[in-house]
Formats: sequence, structure tokens, C-alpha cells
Amino acid sequence: MKILGIETSCDETAAAVVEDGSKILSNVVVSQIDIFAEYGGVIPEVAARSHLEAMMPVVNKALKNAFCSWDEIDAIAVTHAPGLLGSLLIGTLTARTMAILHEKPLYATHHLKSHVYANWLNVDESEELVSERALEAARPSFTLSKTNSSDSPQFPLLAMVISGGHTQILYMRGHDQFEIIGTTHDDAVGECFDKVAKILGLTYPGGPSIAKEALRGNENKYKLPHPHVDGLDFSFSGLKTAVLRAVQKELGLPISHPSHDLKNHLTDEMRADFAASFQKTAIDILNEKIKLAIQEHPEIKSIVFAGGVSANQKLREEAERIFSKDYAVFFPEPKYSGDNGAMVAAAAFYEIQAGVKPTDPYKLNIYPRISIES
Ligand SMILES: Nc1ncnc2c1ncn2[C@@H]1O[C@H](COP(=O)(O)OP(=O)(O)OP(=O)(O)O)[C@@H](O)[C@H]1O
Ligand SMILES: [Mg+2]
Repeated sequence: MKILGIETSCDETAAAVVEDGSKILSNVVVSQIDIFAEYGGVIPEVAARSHLEAMMPVVNKALKNAFCSWDEIDAIAVTHAPGLLGSLLIGTLTARTMAILHEKPLYATHHLKSHVYANWLNVDESEELVSERALEAARPSFTLSKTNSSDSPQFPLLAMVISGGHTQILYMRGHDQFEIIGTTHDDAVGECFDKVAKILGLTYPGGPSIAKEALRGNENKYKLPHPHVDGLDFSFSGLKTAVLRAVQKELGLPISHPSHDLKNHLTDEMRADFAASFQKTAIDILNEKIKLAIQEHPEIKSIVFAGGVSANQKLREEAERIFSKDYAVFFPEPKYSGDNGAMVAAAAFYEIQAGVKPTDPYKLNIYPRISIES
């Protein structure tokens, strides 16, 4: 079954053709990172307009790269929740129109499900992206170690969704069965990377910049506190403030000193040490919560990481070191950690397997803030 997956929930315009939920026939991503690096964050109206310009060329390229005509596409899948309202609208309106025009069944997928299902994709190194420029510039170079002890994750499993907008631990009994067992009370971990990068004067998006900077820093230089949050929940806004206070203290500046000016006083060594110390603390917090989740669910067979932060090489190494003796640990290939259409097509395939029916293309709505459990 060949599914065309369309993704526009934030600042990537993406489409892909995936066969049977795992074989990637094409994957096209046009990232707006270049545009938003200038502003240090996403501007929703600009993102929507950029999606509008890129959408149809991206869909056409995905079909072309997959050597597929519309006749060969069995279904269309699109992200309808959660995300930026204007961005979601462009993707869903495109998918609805294509479904009506080409008489294809239409499936609406939740963005976090798609991130999780990136772990079921089989990556063929030969496939091309239309615009990897921004992604390549953003991601540090490293060698990927596959920690998978079997071909695909086994149930029951824990899925750690760590992205720009979410930090959640999900328990999955089977395909398309998601239970939130832990979530953040405030900022997402990716958002925390982005905000700390801003304090340190590193470029947007912050995650890859911090990871790169941390390579030459001392991760034990600054002791940053772990937030006291009960159970499997998280809080990352305190960690961002802790970095801010530590930087002010190190520079001998008062807490009233504007945060946007601190970067001008940091030495290269301080910047690298703060990046490394912050990254280590964030990773430790994530792994400690996974240890707790395992105590509550010792029956799990796999641990699956998903979302943009799962591209972090240090996190991969640490999680592998801690968990892979007892569990099969899965990470998406780094370029499928962030937003892409292939993961949307994979999620839809497994939803279909689980009995989900197509949605009415004349009625499909968007839900910018809906939970994965809805
Ligand atoms: N190597 C890395 N290390 C740490 N964080 C990273 C890395 N690469 C990307 N990120 C972070 O991942 C986030 C983007 O991930 P993603 O695209 O999944 O989020 P999103 O789609 O904006 O949000 P959501 O998926 O929650 O709707 C950014 O916050 C970015 O800084
Ligand atoms: Mg995402």
C-alpha cells in the first residue's frame, strides 16, 4: 500500500511516499529554518505563507521522486493536529483537495503519533531531499549507531516524545494505542534548548547549535539543578532560568541585567561549558524519568525516542549505554527525527492496520492543541 504523507504542522513543508508503512519511496522536505534563524523563532503567519508557496512543488516532487503517478497512490495522509493553525490549514486543505480530485481515501494523523512512527521507517540512504540545505547546516555531523536489537519496536513499549512543542512519555500496548504517562508542566525540552541557545548567543534552532557547541565544552563545569516534579512529569522552564542565573553569576552581573545582552559578555570557553553542562542536565533529566517509567512498567520490551530532540547524539549515546542491555532502544534516523512526510504516511499505515477508517475530505477539521489520547 502506497501512502502519500503530507506534513505542515510547523515550519517544514514536507511530503513523502511510503510503501507499507516502512519503505520510503521518496521524502521531500523544504525547511523554513533559514527564514526563522534571522528572527530566532517561528512567525506563524510567515510559516503559513511559506507553506502555501512550497506545498504543491513539494507534493509533485515527492510523487516524481517515488516514480509514482496519482493512479499508484492508494491513500493520502495529512497532519491535522496539533500545530500552528495557519500551517495546519495549508497541509490539510491541500490533502483534502487532492483526495477529492484524485478520489483517494484521506487519513488525518496526529503529529506526535507520526513522530513515534518514524521509528518504523526503513531508511534507504539513496533517497533524495529537495532541500536538505538547512537541515544539514543545522545538524552536527556524527556517526549514527543503530541500537535496534530487532527490526522494529516490540510492544508494549515506552515512547519518549521530545520535540519543539512537546515532552511526553507514552505507553503503547499495540499499534495506535497511546497512553500519556508523563508530560511537561511548562516548556518542552526542545523549546528549552532553543531558549538556552538564545541566552548563549547560538543560532536557531537551538538544539543542533547547543549539541555542536557542547562538543568542545566541559559538561561538569556548571552544576544545574534538576526540577522537583513528581512522578513521570517534567518541567523545563526552571532549567532555562537556572542557566540564565548561572550565566549572570559567572559574569558577575545582576539578575536585572537584560538576558539578550549576556551573550556579548561570554567568552568562547564559557559558552561551550554552559552548552555542555545544560545539554548533560537536560539529557540526565530525560533518562531519569525513563528509569522511573520502567520501574512502573517493567513489562515493556522496547524504548522508542521520537521528535526533533531525539536527533541529539549525546542523548543517543547515553540512552544506549543505560538502557540497551535490557531493552531494545530505537531512535529514528536523524533526518527523520524532525518533521517530515514519511512519518505521517507510516503512522497512517499502522492506523489503517488498527482499523481506523478514512475521514471525509469535505469535513476534515484541524485541531491546533488536541492531545494524542483524543
Ligand atoms: N541535535 C539536537 N539536539 C537537541 N535538540 C534538537 C536537536 N535537533 C533538533 N532539536 C530540537 O528539536 C526541536 C524541533 O523538533 P520538531 O521539529 O520535532 O518540533 P516541532 O515539530 O516544532 O514541535 P512538535 O513536534 O512538538 O509539534 C527544536 O526545538 C530543536 O532545537
Ligand atoms: Mg514535530
